[in-house]
Amino acid sequence: RPIDGPSQDVCKLATPSPGNPLQIECCPPAMAGRESKPFQFPSPSEPKRIRRPAHLASQDKEYVEKYKLAMKRMKCLPPEDPRSFFQQAKVHCAYCNGSYVQSSHTNLGLQIHFSWLFLPFHRMYLHFYERILGSLIQDPTFALPFWNWDHEDGDRVTEDKPFERIRDDNYARVYELMVSGAQRRLEFFGPKYRAGDPPPAGGGGTSERLHNMAHLWTGGHNQQFGEDMGNFYSAGRDPIFYVHHCNVDRLWNVWKTIGGFRFDFDDYDYLNTSFLFYDENSDLIKIKVKDVLDPQALGLEYEDRPIPWRNSRP
Ligand code: C2O
Repeated sequence: RPIDGPSQDVCKLATPSPGNPLQIECCPPAMAGRESKPFQFPSPSEPKRIRRPAHLASQDKEYVEKYKLAMKRMKCLPPEDPRSFFQQAKVHCAYCNGSYVQSSHTNLGLQIHFSWLFLPFHRMYLHFYERILGSLIQDPTFALPFWNWDHEDGDRVTEDKPFERIRDDNYARVYELMVSGAQRRLEFFGPKYRAGDPPPAGGGGTSERLHNMAHLWTGGHNQQFGEDMGNFYSAGRDPIFYVHHCNVDRLWNVWKTIGGFRFDFDDYDYLNTSFLFYDENSDLIKIKVKDVLDPQALGLEYEDRPIPWRNSRP
């Protein structure tokens, strides 16, 4: 059976890691007893949202001003508003640090990392977050930038090895996790996870392992639990989280163009797994994995970029 989202009636305090005594409140507002609406695709007449690489978008002054204004408005919303940055950041915590239980198995926690739900869940999260930002500045074309860390122009160098060597090491690593070590879907997406399964705890597919590197790198090395980017509960508090995840999301599309057996799953339970998110109208939306497998249907595009690691076989 598919996981039918989190229970709306049970939401616990979160912890930075299982069994950690620190308790954090991450539950969204006004969930209990509330009716959710089924997800609707954006109307085909809506303009496309084109996500551009951050290192190029940042040269566009008009875009930077829009993005800043949208972020400022999101941060200024009252903290109990589900569209506020405060609440948006908590979405990640609630789904990853033990707040939620499965609606049909309230004895089991819900975890959207370490399994085949990793990529679709984060695509949904970005979809709602981006549309909220756009609506706060009345700009239906507003799109998040992506952090193009798989290209040398988007990747910053901090170690003092020669630049070429770091770049080539990075490309070889991306190659391994996108190409040679990711020939089949289970390798790339991570293990299956269905209703009634205990929350997965570790491992995860190559897409997730590739994504972890930027989390650890941007996470606070002197913070107790790696805050913000180095821990699930706090990662959503850093705006770079969303920009990083846009690249992860883009690489999902790229992976499917590499060929071989690189397809999405067509398993019934996968397609029908659902989650709850608040949208730009503060409506509670039930969205399924099958709703997000086609980025075009979401009105979403990524600006084309060269794939410099494509032939970086180590
Ligand atoms: Cu939900 Cu980048 O982690």
